[in-house]
Amino acid sequence: MKDFNIEITLCSTKKEKPSFDQLEFGRIFTDHMFVWNYTEGKGWHDPRITPYQPILLDPAATVFHYGQTVFEGLKAYLSKEEQILLFRPDQNMKRLNQSNDRLCMPKIDEELALSALKQLLLIDRDWIPAAEGTSLYIRPFMIATEPYLGVAPSSSYQFMIILSPVGSYYKEGINPVKIAVESEYVRAVRGGTGNAKTAGNYASSLKASEVASRKGYSQVLWLDGREMQYIEEVGSMNIFFKMNGEVVTPALNGSILEGITRKSIIELLRNWNIPVVERQVSIHEIQQAYHDGVLEEAFGTGTAAVISPIGEFLWKNEKMVINGGETGQLSKKLYDSLTGIQNGTEPDPFGWTIRV
Ligand code: COI
Repeated sequence: MKDFNIEITLCSTKKEKPSFDQLEFGRIFTDHMFVWNYTEGKGWHDPRITPYQPILLDPAATVFHYGQTVFEGLKAYLSKEEQILLFRPDQNMKRLNQSNDRLCMPKIDEELALSALKQLLLIDRDWIPAAEGTSLYIRPFMIATEPYLGVAPSSSYQFMIILSPVGSYYKEGINPVKIAVESEYVRAVRGGTGNAKTAGNYASSLKASEVASRKGYSQVLWLDGREMQYIEEVGSMNIFFKMNGEVVTPALNGSILEGITRKSIIELLRNWNIPVVERQVSIHEIQQAYHDGVLEEAFGTGTAAVISPIGEFLWKNEKMVINGGETGQLSKKLYDSLTGIQNGTEPDPFGWTIRV
């Protein structure tokens, strides 16, 4: 593992820790953060771990005006033996650089970023919750900092990693969520930034989520931007259906996020010899499967959401209740196996988990 000299400034007083059995998602942050700057002509410089604090930016910084920014999401777990575990962090660093490329942002050295993350985790290790269903959510992100109002890639950037102890992403916990299928707005189009983890994708999703939430639905299911019929993803997760004994998930087409949990679930299913296919799947096919009684289960996958069973879809005016609104057997098995690998209570035959 490559290493580099990170300047470390520890906080003088540690924050009071929250009650780890009542954690929400993403509201509380640990004592420290990692910061690394990039300047054109100089490259990446001044890697440092500092007390968690607000950052000072010029009001003209590109990130505020044109959204030149990318982020990642991964989690650290504390094993029974009190070891810090990370789930496939190399994949996150790789995807971060794919997003950087799409947003004309400089690449980071993936190994050095991972080494910085490990050092940060060792410093803030007492923030990693151990209770079932909890973890330390890690948010690496990069922003464009040049003060310039012309529409052009910035000449300076700041990469940061912040940490947040979390419980479930959805208030439903691991109980099924209700999802509204979006028929007016779209999230992404072919050739757009749908497969990059960039802020604009999420900003443009807020309107539809707000409308869905008013109707009592947790999130929206996005359809493709051209024909408004092919299923893409849910706001914070990829989606899977079990129909007629076969698991189907939309194929990656450039506008869907290449989820690391999505990829891991496909690998797990293949390992269990459960048929799984990545292909185009339309909302009409799902509706037909529902009417034919062969839509057995649906679930979302994501770092924040883990495996989130879906109990109902609203499509136009029709409510499709899946598996009686209960968590399906396969969703439960996948949840147990994946979280078992992630928190070290199950063997990891794939070598996905790394110890810090
Ligand atoms: C994640 O699952 O880590 C994500 O980045 C989704 C986020 C929008 C909560």
